[in-house]
Amino acid sequence: MYLCAGFVEEMRFVAMKLHTRDQAPKEGQQESAEKAWKAWEPTRVGYLRFLAESKEVYETLENIVAEASFPEYARFQNTGLERSAGLSEDIAWMQQEYSLAPVQLSEDGPGRAYSSLLKELARDCPPKFLCHFYNVYFAHTAGGRMIGTKVASMILDSRELQFYKYEGDFRAKLDEVRAQLNAVAEGWTREEKDSCLEETQKSFKYSGGLLRTITE
Ligand code: HEM
Repeated sequence: MYLCAGFVEEMRFVAMKLHTRDQAPKEGQQESAEKAWKAWEPTRVGYLRFLAESKEVYETLENIVAEASFPEYARFQNTGLERSAGLSEDIAWMQQEYSLAPVQLSEDGPGRAYSSLLKELARDCPPKFLCHFYNVYFAHTAGGRMIGTKVASMILDSRELQFYKYEGDFRAKLDEVRAQLNAVAEGWTREEKDSCLEETQKSFKYSGGLLRTITE
């Protein structure tokens, strides 16, 4: 297990507590987690939707840090964790490979809903926005990769998608982002830190909405 220091350690602690036992099983809970995976039924149409809805979220995160309406957001440009370009390739590949119709995003779908929340928080409350930034990118390198491998073996003829590929060692990229988050949080009051931590729950809720599309 990775051990991190500074404020990110607090963020990680809160996030890990919000995982269900099937998502991040402790010692002795593996059997139940395996059963849950076995009962899980992703579909190609659902997974294509998940990729398209996710792209909306990653594009929004990437645009927000590119615009850097608060100067601290500029620290999160070109982290090497960006996912929207890879997602575009994967979406095009899936549509062609399996003759699937393009996904039309609706305003009340999980991608647009998360995107509007992110824009609002980025404007009004950097600690809350950065909570989502952390959870989305870091969750993807942990549970996200587990899901990717599982889905690929079940319905994508074991194809490894760009969504899960990083140039170079992604762990070093995560370390750099952790250092930047810790540096920004040093300038926050305890109240601001707490508002960031409390936002974790919402991050799970919105990401949960995205993940649910995989089995729809
Ligand atoms: C870490 C699984 C959903 C946020 C992890 C870890 C696992 C995991 C196994 C690594 C635990 C460790 O290092 O000991 C899953 C599964 C999920 C899921 C299977 C869904 C089916 C989520 C969601 C979020 C999230 C929805 C938040 C939006 C995180 C974070 C970490 C983490 C922030 C820490 C990453 C790090 O420190 O590098 N997850 N997770 N996860 N997860 Fe999840």
